[in-house]
Amino acid sequence: MISRQEVQAMYQSGAKHYDFTTILFRLIGLRMKAYRSLAIKKLALQRGNCVIEFCCGTGLNFPFLIEQIGSEGRLIGVDLTPGMLDIARARVNRSGWKNVELIQSDIAAHDFPEGVDGVLATGIFGYIPEYDHVIKAASRSLVPGGHLSILDGKQPVNLPSWLFKIVLKLGGPFGYTPEYFNVRPWESVERYFKETSFETRYGGMIYILSGTAQ
Ligand SMILES: C[S@@+](CC[C@H](N)C(=O)[O-])C[C@H]1O[C@@H](n2cnc3c(N)ncnc32)[C@H](O)[C@@H]1O
Repeated sequence: MISRQEVQAMYQSGAKHYDFTTILFRLIGLRMKAYRSLAIKKLALQRGNCVIEFCCGTGLNFPFLIEQIGSEGRLIGVDLTPGMLDIARARVNRSGWKNVELIQSDIAAHDFPEGVDGVLATGIFGYIPEYDHVIKAASRSLVPGGHLSILDGKQPVNLPSWLFKIVLKLGGPFGYTPEYFNVRPWESVERYFKETSFETRYGGMIYILSGTAQ
């Protein structure tokens, strides 16, 4: 797995191109917007809720989250890379959201507040060898009945290999190597959460995984 320093350097230099790359993914049938929307639906958020996004990047999930929690809710976005957070901050300012807090931190070392209603993590676990610890920390941060929702990638089961190669090529500047897709966060979610659900899309390469805090 690539080191923290490598991840941060990669995202710092690629931050300006990140949103455009996700648009390119649409050309090969990856419906990221629909997958994000489904992952956020699994959080079952209510107006006024507090939600944390782990590794929020440029804030592409923010519009969906704010739509659920409203201006009376609270959104905390945490990310390692200053350049990604700068773009997220610009999005927040442009949209006039006053209820978003952005924190630059390593998710594996961060102390999350308690009493959170939802935790979202999209496109991150292949960078984080301590993912079991992070998922356990999410379970402790959530109120009983709060939800964790994960949207991420795994080794595909039913995707033509040429198409997977294109995914790796497009995602290469962001560290989408075959190893990225080898981690198994669902085992940790099973360990620390109840009422888990697991859905796949795109030939089994994309998964949406959720669980309810005990
Ligand atoms: C693929 S992007 C996903 C961004 C966003 N979640 C999305 O769906 O568009 C991965 C993000 O994870 C962040 N990241 C990687 N490792 C991290 C860590 N240990 N702690 C915090 N953020 C991290 C990177 O800076 C980058 O912004």
